[in-house]
Parts: sequence; C-alpha cells; structure tokens
Amino acid sequence: MKKLINLFLRKLGYELKTISSHNHSQSKLLAEGFPEYLKESRKAGMDVNDFINSKLGNPAYDIQIILKKELSEFKSPIFCELGVGTGRWTKEIIKILHDSQDWKIYAVDHSEWIVDFLKNYFINEKNVIPLLNDGLTLPFPDNNFLDLIFCQGMFIELKLSNIMSYAFEFSRTLKPNGIAVFNYIDLKTDNGWNHLRKQSTILSSCFTYHTTETIDRIFTEAGFVKIKSLLLGNSTYSYFRKL
Ligand SMILES: C[S@@+](CC[C@H](N)C(=O)[O-])C[C@H]1O[C@@H](n2cnc3c(N)ncnc32)[C@H](O)[C@@H]1O
Repeated sequence: MKKLINLFLRKLGYELKTISSHNHSQSKLLAEGFPEYLKESRKAGMDVNDFINSKLGNPAYDIQIILKKELSEFKSPIFCELGVGTGRWTKEIIKILHDSQDWKIYAVDHSEWIVDFLKNYFINEKNVIPLLNDGLTLPFPDNNFLDLIFCQGMFIELKLSNIMSYAFEFSRTLKPNGIAVFNYIDLKTDNGWNHLRKQSTILSSCFTYHTTETIDRIFTEAGFVKIKSLLLGNSTYSYFRKL
C-alpha cells in the first residue's frame, strides 16, 4: 500500500516516510526550549527570533562587542557557529559578514529539530549551511579550514569532558591563527558565583560552572593560546587562537 501511495506521490515530488516518534521527541528534547518558543511566537504572530529577543534581549549590540573585531581579521571568513538554537545570533553575524566576500557559516547543532528548522529559516541564505553533529565532535572531515568558531550559550551547560572534546575538535578544524570564541560561567567571577547561588534552589537547573584555570588548561593542551576574556552579564567570553 505504502509503495502504491509513493508511486503516486513521487510524481508530485513527495514521499511517504515512517518517522520514529522516539527519534522525533528525542530531537525535540535536545532542542531545549526552542520548539516551545516557536509555538508561542506563532501564537503572537511574530518571527521566532524577534520573539525570543523580546524575552531575553537583542544580541545586535552584544555581537558588536563580542565578535566585530575578530571578524574584521578575515577577508573571506569561513565561520562555524556551534549550538545555534533558532539562529538569533546567526542573523546578526550575517549582517556583519555581508560586508565580506565569499563568507560562509556552518551552523552546527546536535538536535535534528534545530537543524531542520534552520534549513528552512535560512533557505534564502545560500552561505548558511546547517549541519547536524553528534554532540561531541564537529561534522567536518577536513582539518585546518575554519577561520572562526563561535559558541554562544552552550558551554554554559556543558560538562568539562564535553568541553574538552570540542576544544580538540576546534583545534583540528581551525586554520593556524584561527580563533575560537565561547562563553561559560566562571566561578572566579562574582557574577558567576552569584549565578551559582541563585541556581542552587532549582532542582532542574541546566547550568554548569568552571574556573579560568580549567578552561585555560584544556585549551592550552589542545594547542591554543589565550587572547583575552570578557565578562558580560553572568558569563565569561573566552578567546583562544590556534597556534
Ligand atoms: C541555550 S541554547 C543557545 C542557542 C543560541 N546560541 C542562542 O543563544 O540563542 C543551546 C544550543 O546548543 C545546542 N547544544 C546543546 N548541547 C550541544 C552539544 N553538545 N553539541 C551541539 N549542540 C548542542 C542546543 O540544541 C541548542 O541549540
């Protein structure tokens, strides 16, 4: 029966497929709160990223502080954004990259739901390439080809072993002199410490806490030199250059 239906559907460019409900709900779970944000934004008649920005703040200003200078180093930046959500930072990065030639953004996430969403959302941005990964490694067979890796709001919830696996992946895929920028919550800062205090009353808190020494040691071991760090709100942005 399915074959018969498919014979007919293929002529129209469609196909009938069985999707495991387990995989679908697992992927939605990995997508954190974004499926719910999408639902709410539709109800409000808003673009999902405008909707999230109205709740969490607009990254348009922060991106200038966090990335503008680093991006200006590269003429034709090959960029990887890891842990993308619905792409509210990607939209701002695109605005900066539009001034460069031959730029590219690989938008990598471990949730199939997120990657499917991004493929549709950025359908007209041919230089944005959403890719699924396994949550531990980067989905690139090539080494030494990226200029910049940016990871916003993801290391704040990763355990150290996961951060270490990504540090080595960043080192494998970045060109020499390429830059990795990410934020995490640093217990050496008062902001980080106070964040921990507040979260200690929440059973399902998703945040993880690290120190400058552990993060620096991991990235040094992976072949990076630290450029700078920047405290913005509760989290610390770290900048590492590959040797
Ligand atoms: C808190 S959201 C941040 C999303 C986006 N950067 C933002 O600020 O709006 C974390 C994102 O990282 C993804 N993520 C979490 N752990 C991951 C992992 N180990 N590998 C790849 N993606 C991951 C989630 O699916 C989600 O899209």
